[in-house]
Amino acid sequence: MSANPVAVPVKKLANGAEIPMIGLGTWPMDDTEAGAAVLHAIDAGYRLIDTAENYRNEEGVGQAIARSPLARSELFVTTKLNAEWHSFEGVRTAWRHSIERLGLDYIDLLLIHWPNPAQGTYVDAYKGLAKLLAKGKVRAIGTSNFTRSQLTELMDATGVVPDVNQIQHSPLWMRADDIAFHQEHGIFTQAWSPLGRGAVLDAEPVTTAAAAHGVTPAQVVLRWNLQHGASPIPKSTDPERQASNLDVFSFELDAGQMAAIDALDGTGPAPADPMAFGH
Ligand code: A2P
Repeated sequence: MSANPVAVPVKKLANGAEIPMIGLGTWPMDDTEAGAAVLHAIDAGYRLIDTAENYRNEEGVGQAIARSPLARSELFVTTKLNAEWHSFEGVRTAWRHSIERLGLDYIDLLLIHWPNPAQGTYVDAYKGLAKLLAKGKVRAIGTSNFTRSQLTELMDATGVVPDVNQIQHSPLWMRADDIAFHQEHGIFTQAWSPLGRGAVLDAEPVTTAAAAHGVTPAQVVLRWNLQHGASPIPKSTDPERQASNLDVFSFELDAGQMAAIDALDGTGPAPADPMAFGH
């Protein structure tokens, strides 16, 4: 184990589980890359590992978890199910397949990966998730890429608050209205592609803040996500980047630095459209 792994703060979710404030994203790693990256990440102090059926790396993630010296209870494993399983019974099947690929006997957080509104069956899928939660097969449930009105539909249909909604969030794609809605309802916001796929790391407001704090541009951007209420899950296969990406709890961006980075919003490529895109 690393001599000095970073201790990551945790947050209590709506349905009671505790989630680390930063996790490792694993897209687009294959099984082999994910196996190595997850072992390095655990060594650096990561306790939250984020995978998905669609990433096709759950087996690699699971093998790393099996090899890690940590007890299963010390790790928080998120996976996500595809549109194929958007029915009450289908979600149970998706859960079983993920459990088998991961080699685990429970999942910490199971998400509906994309709403796929044209298919129109995400409410049925969410009812299936609520059942898995009630039976203790998962410790938390939620969604990825859901809009505010879709989240309202889920809560109205079941009375169960999603623990998490993941959104594409970075200085290039700010989502203040969604984060405010999540906070109002007790939904934890996770940011996917929090580094803007790396595209934002050379931007002047980011490099200026990094120099001022003696940290890397990626640390600035991850800290910026946290200060906006979005918990990042950056992907990196590089052990040094992984370790520094976790080390963002000992400095704070001031209001001027935050505002300068906010001004990058909308300057990059368009984000994915959750009403049209998804699997
Ligand atoms: P790598 O895996 O080689 O480190 P996002 O999570 O926003 O999608 O961004 C992921 C991209 O950012 C990957 O290409 C990853 O590459 C890169 N990345 C992750 N951490 C850092 C870092 N600390 N510095 C520079 N690039 C990084």
